[in-house]
Amino acid sequence: MPAETQNRAPRTVKAVIPAAGLGTRFLPATKAVPKELLPIVDRPVLQYIVEEAAAAGLTDVLLVTRRGKYAMVDYFDRAPELEAALSAKGDEERLAAVRRPSELADISTSRQSVARGLGHAVLCASAHVGLEAFAVMLGDDLIDASTPVLPTMLEIQAEHGGIVVLLADVPKEVVNRYGIASVESTGRADVVRITGLVEKPEPSEAPSTLAVIGRYVLPGEIFAVLRDTRPGAGGEVQLTDAMAAMLDAGTPVHGVVFGGRRYDTGDRGDYLKAVVEMACDREDLGPAFRDWLKDFVRTLP
Ligand code: G1P
Repeated sequence: MPAETQNRAPRTVKAVIPAAGLGTRFLPATKAVPKELLPIVDRPVLQYIVEEAAAAGLTDVLLVTRRGKYAMVDYFDRAPELEAALSAKGDEERLAAVRRPSELADISTSRQSVARGLGHAVLCASAHVGLEAFAVMLGDDLIDASTPVLPTMLEIQAEHGGIVVLLADVPKEVVNRYGIASVESTGRADVVRITGLVEKPEPSEAPSTLAVIGRYVLPGEIFAVLRDTRPGAGGEVQLTDAMAAMLDAGTPVHGVVFGGRRYDTGDRGDYLKAVVEMACDREDLGPAFRDWLKDFVRTLP
């Protein structure tokens, strides 16, 4: 094997999507429907995330799930009766839309039987992932497909190894909802070196306003660290604490700084913005919806 091939970091092909949450911010809708299946126009949030993974070449997708959320797995399976009915009607467009989720990626599941936090959810992926670097994608963070971030994150991880996270500048008053990074320059405008990470600090104690947004490329070694990570903020095992421990032990940690459109679809207000903006962008629905929206806005007090 040529030396160049030997030294190259293994290609990251697996994505892990923690999807075991109770969806409390969206109750009562999420009492019977997983929040990941709430639609943005006519596709569930989770499909956008899997589409993003697949577009970056990550077609081995593990959903970390829990009891009562089987509908997520069914969504990515074939639906022979529905397909036959659409086919008999000659509705090729809907047939293609119904088949698409099952064609995007190989979906597997792992169960998080107790809710012990994001770090614990990621640890539930250890048997599936093994020792390779892998991506973690949080379903609440919807990233506009016109500004993809995973390809750059994978490229930085292949170059430097270690950990790569996505960062975005947030208003100071909301830093206590995020993992916050202290950073220094790499000389490249969109990539920073991370020198510290803290989970959900109070605004007065936050080292910056650069928040970790739900995309990570992590080395397989994180699992051993997560096993030793004690519960932190909110009494939960925090992924941020495991990353901070690896940083302290000398693992390189980089941040890709994101400036595009993103939505926290677990937040009702942001969810509504996502639906409206995505609907405006749609070639089929967009023109008529935009006209209606302009008229509607004029009627607002
Ligand atoms: C999680 C992480 C946090 C990160 C956030 C991004 O928090 O713990 O570090 O900034 O996702 O959405 P959660 O939203 O699960 O409270």
